[in-house]
Amino acid sequence: MKLLKTKGEVQLLRASVRDSGNSLGLVPTMGALHQGHLHLVKTALSENDEVLVSIFVNPTQFNNSKDLEKYPKTLEEDLNKLQSLEGSIHVFAPEVSEMYGEEVRSRNYNFEGLDKFMEGAFRKGHFEGVGTIVENLLRLILPDRAYFGEKDYQQLQIIRKLVSEREIPVEIIPCPIIREADGLAMSSRNRQLTKRLRKKAAFIFKSLKKAQLEFGTKSAVELKEEISRAYAEDPDFELEYFEISHAESLKPVKRPRKNEKYRAFVAAYLGEVRLIDNIALN
Ligand code: PAF
Repeated sequence: MKLLKTKGEVQLLRASVRDSGNSLGLVPTMGALHQGHLHLVKTALSENDEVLVSIFVNPTQFNNSKDLEKYPKTLEEDLNKLQSLEGSIHVFAPEVSEMYGEEVRSRNYNFEGLDKFMEGAFRKGHFEGVGTIVENLLRLILPDRAYFGEKDYQQLQIIRKLVSEREIPVEIIPCPIIREADGLAMSSRNRQLTKRLRKKAAFIFKSLKKAQLEFGTKSAVELKEEISRAYAEDPDFELEYFEISHAESLKPVKRPRKNEKYRAFVAAYLGEVRLIDNIALN
């Protein structure tokens, strides 16, 4: 497994992958790898001859400097986990200055409203930061396919839009959410939870399952109100949003239509840790 630190090394690797007639899959990550990431890497390995995993804690997508400071950085551990997989894996773990130079700044994007709701509303500038780094990685690495988890479903929709608007020649492959035994979606942030709060975190999946079960029998407004009340009963939780939205436009739904797909989305603080999750409703 090769560890690349510079854009120049990535370009050399890209050329040699192409010369050997191999396909290349990209799995962009911010490190602190868990089973969810490893599932992305395994899927990429099954569909490509070689896989590049990028590990880069992207500063421009953090709207809160404390959150950026606290974000786990575990490169050594991550490399060991990747080493345990079988297949041709390369890792790109650049410094911030390598990716951004002197100006650590996002580009402006028009995501046609996809960034107006949920994460976009609560984390100002977040998707501009994600768009900037993902576009930079895609243009540098030129992968045949790039893999993104559905846990960040809004991010996935935004990246699909970015790639089609900017005509970046890559196939975006969505991968299902990987969950712990109690339903908690795997996330690098889970390791910041205390034992006590980790137990409580299973409630997030329960609330999504309730929405899934009762969608169609109760109105979206009723469901959102009931579920928000349940969060309010536990002072360890601070709910940012529980939303029921169209699966493509991400617009909050009032009256669901037949033949359209909807999802429930949630973001909540548990203590100091912000967790997000979502589920298909139909
Ligand atoms: O989903 C993530 O981990 C990040 O948002 C990504 C796509 C690697 C961009 O920094």
